[in-house]
Amino acid sequence: MFLRIHKYLEKKSFALLLGIIGVVSVGGLVEIAPLFYIDSTIEEVDGMRPYTPLELAGRNIYIREGCYVCHSQMVRPLRDEVERYGHYSLAAESMYDRPFQWGSKRTGPDLARVGGKYSDEWHNTHLQDPRAVVPESIMPPYVFLAEAELEIDDIAGHLAANRALGVPYTEEMVALAQSDVMTQLDPMADDYDGFMARYPKAIIRDFDGNPDKVTEMDAIIAYLQMLGTLVDFSEYEADLDENLR
Ligand code: HEC
Repeated sequence: MFLRIHKYLEKKSFALLLGIIGVVSVGGLVEIAPLFYIDSTIEEVDGMRPYTPLELAGRNIYIREGCYVCHSQMVRPLRDEVERYGHYSLAAESMYDRPFQWGSKRTGPDLARVGGKYSDEWHNTHLQDPRAVVPESIMPPYVFLAEAELEIDDIAGHLAANRALGVPYTEEMVALAQSDVMTQLDPMADDYDGFMARYPKAIIRDFDGNPDKVTEMDAIIAYLQMLGTLVDFSEYEADLDENLR
């Protein structure tokens, strides 16, 4: 009986076409329909928070300078990558990235786990003169970052734009954006506690070694030093084990 239908379909190409459309749309519905009924396809992970205004400014410079042309920010779940860079990347780690920086072109190493790997001083030297610390490096120098004053007049607008796109910045965070840039650069700042409550795990210090001036170097090092540091992976793995048991 089944074979008879098949024989018929093979002879009548229009009926075959209708049959194919029928089968493919069932498959499509099964895959696509559930996406309309769930809030998000990203599983939430403890520790993720939106970028501090200074980190966001650094991220903007990272994009402006095209660092993504040579660097990816996604550790794949493959053994060689995990042994080299650390825990594989989770979707939740880029949930506040507009746009994300995953990439696939690696002229230089992946940067998703570079936070805390080197000192601020190393980054400062490396960005100004890569071959001073890695003699065989082919990375271009970015001397001007240490000189260029960081523009922060528009930083509240950047937070507001991210907020419009769904990043959970509060009214307070947007209003305090400009002063929060200064707070993150000064461990003696008045609003230290308030800042840490808004942005847990943020690093507060002067990043470029020049406390007299707020430079683009401050911002980009603040950004590099936080990459991959928000999620506690030993906790994440323990939770996974528990849920599987
Ligand atoms: C033309 C390609 C190229 C561009 C553009 C580039 N890099 Fe690199 N980067 C490299 C290469 C190659 C290395 C490896 C050698 C070295 O450490 O200098 C590297 C290494 C690094 C490292 C050290 C990573 C590690 O784990 O050792 C950091 C951090 C870094 N780059 C940041 C940046 C930033 C920030 C920018 C943009 C301002 C940038 N790079 C632009 C090629 C590039």
